[in-house]
This record gives sequence, C-alpha cells and structure tokens, in this order.
Amino acid sequence: MKVAVLGAAGGIGQALSLLLKTQLPAGCELSLFDIAPVTPGVAVDLSHIPTDVNVKGYSKDYLAPALKDADVVLIPAGVPRKPGMDRADLFNVNAGVVKTLAEEIVQQCPNAMVGIITNPVNTTVAIVAEVFKKAGTYNPKRLFGVTTLDVIRAETFVAEKKGLNPAEITVPVIGGHSGTTILPLLSQVEGVSFSDDEIEQLTHRIQNAGTEVVEAKAGGGSATLSMGQAAARFCLSLVRAMKGENVVEYAYVEGDGEHATFFAQPLKLGKEGVEELLSIGSLSAYEQKALEDMLDTLKGDIQKGVEFVQG
Ligand SMILES: NC(=O)c1ccc[n+]([C@@H]2O[C@H](COP(=O)([O-])OP(=O)(O)OC[C@H]3O[C@@H](n4cnc5c(N)ncnc54)[C@H](O)[C@@H]3O)[C@@H](O)[C@H]2O)c1
Repeated sequence: MKVAVLGAAGGIGQALSLLLKTQLPAGCELSLFDIAPVTPGVAVDLSHIPTDVNVKGYSKDYLAPALKDADVVLIPAGVPRKPGMDRADLFNVNAGVVKTLAEEIVQQCPNAMVGIITNPVNTTVAIVAEVFKKAGTYNPKRLFGVTTLDVIRAETFVAEKKGLNPAEITVPVIGGHSGTTILPLLSQVEGVSFSDDEIEQLTHRIQNAGTEVVEAKAGGGSATLSMGQAAARFCLSLVRAMKGENVVEYAYVEGDGEHATFFAQPLKLGKEGVEELLSIGSLSAYEQKALEDMLDTLKGDIQKGVEFVQG
C-alpha cells in the first residue's frame, strides 16, 4: 500500500510522517511531497528509523511521481492560522493549493482514498470534490475531511473535567470543522453526566481549541503535533479498513444530505472507503438547537468551495 503525504515538510506533515513511518503496517510505502526543498531530506531522515516502511521524498516539480498509484493521499499542505485569524481567512491561499493538488490526484491516482486536513476544511473538501467531479473521477466514499482532531480534543477535555482516562472515553463530534459547526454530542458520552454549565463550557472549549493553540503559539502556527496524531489515527484506521477490518471513525464526508451536502458523522469504513453512514443518534435539545443554528454557516462554507471551482 502506498500512502502519500502532500505538505509533508510542514508542522503537521513532519509529525504525521514520523507517526506513519513507525506505525504503518510492514511493506507499506510512504511518499512525501512538499514544495519545500527540504522534503527529500525529511525522507532520508525518516528512512533511518528501522521499520519495514519505505520512505521516498519529492519536492517542487515531482508531484506526479509522488502521487503515482497512491492508495491513500493525506493533504496538510497550505498556510496555517496566526492569532486573530479565522479558518475562513486561509481560503485565499489554501483554496488554490488544494485545487492544484486535486488536479494531479485525478491524473496519478484517481481511485485513492483522499483525506483533507488543509483549512478551511468545510470548504476545501468541497473544492476537491468539484475538481474530481469535473474530471469524472469523484467517488464520495473515498473523500474525507479529517475532523479527528475535534474528536481527540473532546475526549481529552471530557476526561480532564471528569477525572477519567481519556483512552476509555468516546465523544461523538459532528457537523463541520470550524467554530460553531463543530458540535460535540456530550449527551451521548456513556456513563458520564454533565451539568448545563459543564455542557456550555466544554462545548465552547472544544469549538475553540484550535484558537487556544494558535494563541499559545503566538504567531508560530497552529496545532501540528496533536493534528499529526489525529491524522495518523485516521489514516491507520483507514488502512486497517482497506485491509478488511471493521472500523468506525468520524469524518466530514458527502452523506445523505439530510443536514448539508458535507457533514461530519460516524462512518463504518471498509475496503472501498465509506461502507455505511452511521446515524448521529438522538440529540439533546441543546444539541438539536446548535445543529440547526450551524447549518447556514456550514452550507455557506460548502457553497464557497463549489463556486471557487465552478467559477
Ligand atoms: N483539519 C484540522 O483539524 C487541522 C488542524 C490544524 C491545522 N490544519 C491546517 O493544516 C494546514 C497545514 O498546517 P501546518 O501547521 O502543517 O502548516 P505549515 O506551514 O507548518 O506546513 C504547511 C506545508 O505546506 C507546504 N505547502 C504549501 N503549499 C504547497 C503546495 N502547493 N504543495 C505542497 N506543499 C505545499 C509548505 O511548504 C509547508 O511545508 C493548514 O491549512 C492548517 O490550517 C488543519
């Protein structure tokens, strides 16, 4: 199996590549691409770690060989936020970056599973879908916006608040990946109950956790290490599913359109990608209102991506 990381020399890209080099199943190939000239060097550095995962690095004009026949493509390429910025402020640069990369995926590996990390995810996933549709290669079961960071943050913060082991907690997070479109379903956390104040405070913290990191890094970027871990978890789940295991993960995909064209929800993953869209379950009154309130924003974010490609 060949896994390509585009934007591999960046903060997320390097953390993710390290985790994949040490955790992908034996025999996999890890293909690293970034416009930064250091990328082949990142690959040489990783290649000294003794695992049976072969790493190759490509830069500048070598996107095509980096992508050739890839089974999985992960995209953390683009610019991250600085303090005071919203994810939507990244649109002007990152929309063009993901569009260019998607156009090469169409040529080199049209059947790959593609995971988009580049923000604003609510919009960049729609851009990639439109590029694939134009080329006639779009398969909604194989395109994912990676929202795993919202899930691991929710698990961490709930565990912290309740004095529990985060490894034993599951917190569903649905919707999109920015501000109020991130909706943790605290009413569904098994064996734990929350006061109204706790729900308010935890929901707000999970929705703004990215900003917490951006402000703490004070101009030095956004979440990279926790995002590397989140993307590695998503990729490893996908690879396990592609090898025939039953796996459930949350991601932002084109579903049945009940709430919006793209929506983060639980998915059963299999050999062909999304095997089944799982139900988001029953929501509390608080969650139901938050879901209804987010939809205009989410739909607007998606429309912006569609218009970017369709012109
Ligand atoms: N989905 C999420 O939960 C999540 C979380 C955190 C950050 N992000 C997003 O991930 C992206 C990357 O963040 P980062 O902190 O790693 O940034 P970074 O600046 O450290 O790295 C980005 C890398 O992308 C490369 N790049 C830029 N244009 C490229 C192109 N056309 N082709 C290939 N590579 C290109 C750069 O050279 C750089 O190495 C940002 O858009 C950020 O907002 C998403």
